[in-house]
Amino acid sequence: MSHVGKPATSRQLLLGIGANVPGPWGPPRESLTRALREIEGAQITIVRVSSYYLTKPVANTPQPRFLNAVVLAQACIAPGVLLRSLKRIERQAGRTMTRHLASRPLDIDILDFGGRALTILRDLPHVGAVITSEEEERVLRVLRKVNDIIDYRQVLFSEAKVNSLDSYNLAHPEKNLPAVLVVIDNFAEFKEYYDGLMGPLISLVRESRAYGVHFLISADLPNALTGKLYNLITERYTLKLSDPSEYNEVVGRGVPADLSPIPGRGYVRLGNTPLEFQTALTFTPDEGDPDGLAKINRMCMRMKDLWGDQWKGEKPSTVETLPLRVSLENVIQQAVLPEVRRINAVMGIDDRSLEPALIDIERQGPHMVVIGQPFSGKTTTMRAMMLSVAYNYSPEEVIMVLVDFSRKLWKGSETSLADLPHVVQAIDDIEQLDGWYESMRVECAEFETKPKRRKIMIFIDNYDAFTEEASRKKMSFFENMAALVRKYQTEGVYLIIGGSLAILSASDDLRKVFAAPSFGIALKTADAVGRLNGRFPRSLADVELPQGRAFIVRSGVTSMLQLATPYANDDDVEGSLDAWTRKIQARYPGKKAEWLAPAEGTPRDESQAPAGGTSTSKTSAKVTAESTAPKSPDVSKYSIPALKQKLVENGLPADMLALFSDADIVENARAMGLLDEQKD
Ligand SMILES: Nc1ncnc2c1ncn2[C@@H]1O[C@H](COP(=O)(O)OP(=O)(O)O)[C@@H](O)[C@H]1O
Ligand SMILES: [Mg+2]
Repeated sequence: MSHVGKPATSRQLLLGIGANVPGPWGPPRESLTRALREIEGAQITIVRVSSYYLTKPVANTPQPRFLNAVVLAQACIAPGVLLRSLKRIERQAGRTMTRHLASRPLDIDILDFGGRALTILRDLPHVGAVITSEEEERVLRVLRKVNDIIDYRQVLFSEAKVNSLDSYNLAHPEKNLPAVLVVIDNFAEFKEYYDGLMGPLISLVRESRAYGVHFLISADLPNALTGKLYNLITERYTLKLSDPSEYNEVVGRGVPADLSPIPGRGYVRLGNTPLEFQTALTFTPDEGDPDGLAKINRMCMRMKDLWGDQWKGEKPSTVETLPLRVSLENVIQQAVLPEVRRINAVMGIDDRSLEPALIDIERQGPHMVVIGQPFSGKTTTMRAMMLSVAYNYSPEEVIMVLVDFSRKLWKGSETSLADLPHVVQAIDDIEQLDGWYESMRVECAEFETKPKRRKIMIFIDNYDAFTEEASRKKMSFFENMAALVRKYQTEGVYLIIGGSLAILSASDDLRKVFAAPSFGIALKTADAVGRLNGRFPRSLADVELPQGRAFIVRSGVTSMLQLATPYANDDDVEGSLDAWTRKIQARYPGKKAEWLAPAEGTPRDESQAPAGGTSTSKTSAKVTAESTAPKSPDVSKYSIPALKQKLVENGLPADMLALFSDADIVENARAMGLLDEQKD
């Protein structure tokens, strides 16, 4: 394969020269003519010179237009000598001719849809990201990054009263903004993958120019670009095309139908006239490295070394994606809570900002749901929420009630989340409901006289099982509790409800309360997001999202996040929960919140430290250890092997099922609507 038409020592060059103000060599026209002479004098053979043409300066400040010319030349001297000669000519010509060569910050993002040929440039210090076709999140993110840059510069430029990147940078030499180059290699492929992004891309290209953001797009055929996009791109180059009638479309009339087959030979559009060019090769090809890839890579590394020390400006931003796992511990440390003492829960990392995602339950709720399929992370999410709130707010500010008829919500090994200083009661049995309501009534009544008293957060996990078991037998409880919560929700009673997607259509009264704000966390799937009337990103439709990926939906507005996990170690979840309980206990030494009034029939426990000094009567939160035989769903009436089989058929991995108790099996089957049970 031959890359150059001449022996290796001879190279062809395409040089651009331009001047807009008089220099040591006279006015622009004379400067250019002199420059051509100097170039010839430097052992460079000029093959062809375009006619001189005028361009508007890139800076839109009042500045004379540039007189330019493009020179095709040939040189038989070593590249180093050549470079030095050209530099010398520039110096002699004075500043007027160096402006195009001044080093300026540059941030390149490459969308490599052309067989990863550009991935080789990854190490170039200017390159923020190289993204390939299957990296959907990063593709979306790079467009969003460009969008944000444009938005930001719009404001900045209008404040600075400039209308181009150049004029901004001239006025702010100490904090130059980089030009941004977005390269899309093989547009047809890009379009095939991301057809839905054509609209947004076109508006970005349209707006970007004035803000120093440029798009460089390659395609096999001009019509790979949609007409609208194509018309926005006026700087055009063509290499050899299979259909010569296309040249006209790209660069204008005048390209010979039999354009030379020499690789790299092509035409560039200058005004409306095509000018022939030969693409410069970065390196002369080698036997073992015909495309010079190894050399290009070495060059990138060298540049990186060189710039590494020299470049004092901001580095190009890489296009990061959400982490696959976020530790609750880290994100709590990282999060900055708002000054107002409303309860804010630290939930994870927000997709858009990559900053901690907070939920302001009072403002955004006051109630919310956490919905998803079995094993999607509902319980973990509720635990993370409890823990972050307990960590950041004292038991005087907020108390918690935990409800889970399968009792997993608070399950630790040596201690349990029911031992958190904030937890006044953990409820796993239908018989506790009336007592709970009584305690709630007394507690809420205090809002009447002390509106700033402690808030109440109620976490109910596995709501499917809860409502199914309790709502018929304790219909009055649901009615009364619904009325009570409704009455005091603005004062500070918050429901956080976990369950399957079906809980939003449960028929009990409490559901009407917690579903009203249309607010919640949908885990992982489009179904879950849809159930909350949110918008699932179309581009993620066929992607298997990682564990912990979720969407906060509020009145239809959807934002993605990676939920934090409280587990330091997934193999020892209970151990991690124990550690959290101890850590939070240590933050509030000797404290354990209690109901203002004890529930009837609850044993008094005088050994516990008084909480908040509110009451002489005490009650202890009912903890797991005290409970008798599990009262969770009557497992005996189901055939466990048959249910397991059904769960496997519905996509739950068999090795996961092996870890489930019989009750888990029943619960999951119920959540997935696989129980065809006769209702009593
Ligand atoms: N945010 C998260 N990050 C990483 N892993 C998670 C996350 N949430 C849940 N998991 C893992 O997913 C599994 C199921 O979580 P769980 O909360 O029990 O789901 P569900 O309550 O929906 O059945 C657990 O093994 C848990 O470790
Ligand atoms: Mg669960």
